Amino acid sequence: MSNATSLDAAAMQRAALLADALAGLSRPQKTLPCKWLYDAEGARLFEAITDLPEYYPTRTEMRILEEAGPAIAREVGPGAPLVEFGPGDGEKAVRLLRALEAPAAYLPVDIAPEWLEAAAARVSAALPGLRVWPVVADFSAAFDLAGRLEGAAAALGFFPGSTIGNFEPQEAAAFLRRVRAGLGAGVRLLLGADLVKDPAVLVPAYDDAAGVTAAFNLNLLARLNSEAGADFDLRAFRHRAVWNPDAERIEMHIVSLAAQSVGLAGRVFRFAPGETIHTENSHKYRPERLRTLAAEAGWAVAAMWTDPEDLFSMWLLEGCDPDRARAARSALC
Ligand code: AVI
Repeated sequence: MSNATSLDAAAMQRAALLADALAGLSRPQKTLPCKWLYDAEGARLFEAITDLPEYYPTRTEMRILEEAGPAIAREVGPGAPLVEFGPGDGEKAVRLLRALEAPAAYLPVDIAPEWLEAAAARVSAALPGLRVWPVVADFSAAFDLAGRLEGAAAALGFFPGSTIGNFEPQEAAAFLRRVRAGLGAGVRLLLGADLVKDPAVLVPAYDDAAGVTAAFNLNLLARLNSEAGADFDLRAFRHRAVWNPDAERIEMHIVSLAAQSVGLAGRVFRFAPGETIHTENSHKYRPERLRTLAAEAGWAVAAMWTDPEDLFSMWLLEGCDPDRARAARSALC
């Protein structure tokens, strides 16, 4: 990427951040989209979160991948190219690719080229000889990778980490439909989803004793200060994580500790004491709800794995045949 192009991309990012902040902070319940949590510092803090004793999802999913690896490989068969959405540091892909039989290629997909480089480098180092083909694309919008996958066995999509939980349910269904449409015939999807459980386990996972998640959440205000010219006083806000039992999701908020005003792009946003900015939802799934969501998006469940404590789940989905569903007079697969 040339210097001019990357400067343009950075300026466009800042403009989009400012537009989202102005819109979100103008709502009765102030909000900021969770995608803005991940600047370089946010990505570093998220990596630290995945190592916390309270944050069970990452290590539990790793264990499931390790133990279910041979069964996943049997179900998938030889020669499947692996397409990973939001690959992070590529560690889970390495584990999966090692289990699969002769995968044809690894295609990490992300909107941010810098994240792709890290994943591609890790996978190339761990599996020399494997074709690694990073794809810069926004998978929150329509994409078509079928052309790149021509000639190979049917692709395996991979969406680990329960990132699906950060989507609203209708966005999650739309994403699942896009994967089905965008990866060609015979596609399967290996999907990680965090499960509903005791809030006494869930809340500390998002409000850890060392304060790493608090720093991750508050970094969003620091980012608005440095990239959008806001004047948030970070000492006057604190992190909060709550379990919303009706929506079955953890919500992250930033709480104002006092009556205060914050300036942003010539506008003033007032905060009452205790007023919050809602920054993230992390939906947790019951198996039957995930099954229904998948079916509504055109997927049938080929297999499902969990850990002994039923903390986390890994699903192998396959595109279901709409004719069969129609013949069975069912809207679902
Ligand atoms: C990326 N995503 C799946 C994480 C989650 O658990 O929802 C983000 C996160 N937020 C706070 N801790 C972790």
